[in-house]
Amino acid sequence: MPNTRFYVTTPIYYVNDRPHTGHAYTSVLADVMAGYHRLLGIDTWFLTGTDEHGQKVQDSAAERDVAPQALCDEMAAHFGDLLERLRVRNDDFVRTTEPRHTAVVTQVLAELHARGDVYLDHYEGWYCARCERYWTDRDVEEQGGGRCPDQPELHGVERLAEENYYFRMSKYADRLREAIETDVFRVHPEKRKNEVLGFLKKGLTDLCISRNRERLSWGVPLPFDDKYVCYVWVDALFNYKSAIGYLAADDAEHERHARWWPADVHVIGKDILTTHAVYWPTLLMAMGEALPRMVLAHGWLLDSRGGKLSKTKREGDDAEGVLPVPTIDGLLDVFGADGTRWFLATAMKPGDDTAFDWTIVRERVNTDLANGLGNTANRLLKMAAGACDGVFPGLGEDDDVGETQERVRAAAVAAVDAVRAFPETLDVTAVVAAVRSGVAAISLFLQDEKPWKLVKTDDGLPRARIVIAWSLESLRLLALAVHPILPESFATLRTALGMTGDLDFARESQFGALPEGARLGAPPNLFPRIGADAIPSA
Ligand code: MSP
Repeated sequence: MPNTRFYVTTPIYYVNDRPHTGHAYTSVLADVMAGYHRLLGIDTWFLTGTDEHGQKVQDSAAERDVAPQALCDEMAAHFGDLLERLRVRNDDFVRTTEPRHTAVVTQVLAELHARGDVYLDHYEGWYCARCERYWTDRDVEEQGGGRCPDQPELHGVERLAEENYYFRMSKYADRLREAIETDVFRVHPEKRKNEVLGFLKKGLTDLCISRNRERLSWGVPLPFDDKYVCYVWVDALFNYKSAIGYLAADDAEHERHARWWPADVHVIGKDILTTHAVYWPTLLMAMGEALPRMVLAHGWLLDSRGGKLSKTKREGDDAEGVLPVPTIDGLLDVFGADGTRWFLATAMKPGDDTAFDWTIVRERVNTDLANGLGNTANRLLKMAAGACDGVFPGLGEDDDVGETQERVRAAAVAAVDAVRAFPETLDVTAVVAAVRSGVAAISLFLQDEKPWKLVKTDDGLPRARIVIAWSLESLRLLALAVHPILPESFATLRTALGMTGDLDFARESQFGALPEGARLGAPPNLFPRIGADAIPSA
């Protein structure tokens, strides 16, 4: 089914601390997905934001001796700044402490309660206050006892006996299983789909959705019992709908919701799969709402020893033997927005994990951008300035389209074809692989034909111009194909390669679209090589 519009989201980030490179990864991945859709002319809405309620935020505020809202304001601003520095083009930024969001959560809770999908029951078992999660005896025993099964090294659990409100999640287990099995609700990649189906096989319990206000006050109060606040995840998940006008009385907002829901892709990390692939769809079923089309669970950026970056174990706390983890500010300082985006967008196939350190980022950026795209653009435009007076010579009628010449055209066409296929594949690494092949094909072509030698004789000059023209035309398509990843450099490169006016993918993606006589720009130095001395020492 052709996509006529595309609604993509990131998880909303906890504001208990400042953003790190892992958050930047998710934001850039979603931004690049939005960018490819926009490039193809598909109407796109890209939502991100911050998750501001709950224990983590309440505890961090207490540790810093500030009011929770003040901490939220400060941290939300850091997340907003980071998006700007990364040149992320989100259409909206939702904060869960905004009235437009809390009003929706309150209405949803009241409705679920009124429908009988939320009930009061006695609870006796374990609770991890820091993770805000209830655990069964079995969970805690399997872990060894006394510690949080999720993060045993960090948190203990406490024994609780109290009344709580539950959501009848178990009631929707069969419908959920069917929706996932039939891909009506797609969980991607396949291994994550199997993980969720395996989880469902063990039997789905009901979900405790209340937190006693005596322990946790920083949340949305339950509208039917003010001794409790809402569990932070139930609150947070509804951001995907509150931000587009869900349950709004206003007609325009109502239409906005109808236009964008259901979401096409929720981009998430694999750590929050259950909440998105089990809690969220069952809550939507209970509310009689359509399910998102896809949850895409990506892997983690790891340190050189395989440890996940996190706010509790973050940059700077590097254990002995672990290479220093680049901070997101450090990456941006050294590699700029485009270099950082390139590394993040190409870091891993969504789904896999990858370890990274300064050397890995530097090599990736130097190989692909400085030596690859950047050097090719620079060389070709220099040659064009000398041999073609800085004007595009046109592809020309050439009887002798040899194998390497045809490969240059085919590789460029394959790269823009990968862009056209993007709404189906959502695979940035496939586009990047095609672009790398295209750059290699140009390099081989130049090596074969040696236009720098051909230009030295009158007989050779026409052939040199054809070689330069085919290479430039191919490069133009390759640049177009990576535009969503490299928004800053693309504008310069596009003008240097002769394109003017508004960007029009349908026209510009045709090999041969650049007219003969188009004025080329000066050779840009888009991606200077990053030397080892630019990397902060450990
Ligand atoms: N607030 C919840 C999400 C609620 S969505 C309704 C949350 N926030 S978080 O700030 O802890 O993490 C958000 C996301 O950051 C993770 O799901 C993941 O996408 C990303 N990452 C955090 N650490 C990461 C890595 N080390 N590597 C890659 N992504 C990582 O969970």
